[in-house]
Amino acid sequence: MTMATVHVPLDDRAYDVRIGPGLIARAGAEIAPFLNRPRVFVVTEERVAALHLDALKDGLADDGVQMKALVLPAGESTKSWPHFTRTVEWLLEQKVERKDIVVAFGGGVIGDLAGFAAAVLRRGVRFVQIPTSLLAQVDSSVGGKTGINSVVGKNLIGAFHQPSLVLADISVLGTLTKRDFLSGYGEVQKYGLLGDADFFEWLEQHGPALAAGDSGLRLEAVRRSVQMKADIVERDETEQGDRALLNLGHTFCHALEAATGYSDRLLHGEGVAIGCALAFELSAKLGLVSQEEPSRVREHLAAMEMKKDIADIDGELPDADGLVELMSQDKKVVDGKLRFILARAIGDAFVTADVPPEAVQAVLQDALLGR
Ligand code: GLY
Repeated sequence: MTMATVHVPLDDRAYDVRIGPGLIARAGAEIAPFLNRPRVFVVTEERVAALHLDALKDGLADDGVQMKALVLPAGESTKSWPHFTRTVEWLLEQKVERKDIVVAFGGGVIGDLAGFAAAVLRRGVRFVQIPTSLLAQVDSSVGGKTGINSVVGKNLIGAFHQPSLVLADISVLGTLTKRDFLSGYGEVQKYGLLGDADFFEWLEQHGPALAAGDSGLRLEAVRRSVQMKADIVERDETEQGDRALLNLGHTFCHALEAATGYSDRLLHGEGVAIGCALAFELSAKLGLVSQEEPSRVREHLAAMEMKKDIADIDGELPDADGLVELMSQDKKVVDGKLRFILARAIGDAFVTADVPPEAVQAVLQDALLGR
């Protein structure tokens, strides 16, 4: 298989996610059917622009599509009001019309920011996601969550705005650092853990080879991840229930990210991977799964040469109380109670608000003692 398409069936907001090598080179042919006039407005960032913007320009020009690009600084701090304002004003200066297409060309930061700009511009223009990180290809580019960070917390300002098309070009994954690739893999293994034991087994078998560069395996891993996300988003587009399953590992992750100052000490997908292991540890502590399950999660992360525990994070961290306090800032707090995603088995996760704080505290204490 050299190309796959996953359909996200959301009535009049339905769209395709195209997955395969060489999609940037044929971006014009892919996007042209959506255009009212042959031009697009690309929002990207410096690193991606240096590596891939010429290829996108050529790929669009091959089908007679012109582009204008706004190149923003790379990094999480771009997902903020100042860059959002700049993006919206730039799009207005370019005289973007209601029927035009904005292209988000980059990782999760650019996808979220450009998607949010498209959501509010002229009360909503269409946009196409061309995700260039593994994390964005398997998670943030699909499902329509867009937004920016507030000083109070991450992703607190935003809108649901589904893209019209997603082009996940797996050739670009070859330009990622090993660390960035593996960070994205933290979200891939999450899909197996939350809802598909066969996929997790497949990853145990093929994960190291796909990390080493096998493009057939990469395509299959992205396809299966996107298919799972599409199925969940179809059931629960605006996260009233099941969509929260996608947050497996994220409650622990957000506390660890806050504790490490959202810095290079811990990338998001690394925090998700450690968070998944801790969520399984918590499930074992509550008697939901046997102790073998968290061990199996960690063994896989170790085989992938990934961080698998709090002990693998360099530098100082708060104590268990401090981490629990950071969790209470989480978006998933409802009526003062923190919701957790726990598991009954690998591939069988569920959402609950019924977790004794002492159990969370004990899991963190054990993990910190391992340091
Ligand atoms: N990244 C989680 C979600 O899209 O719901």
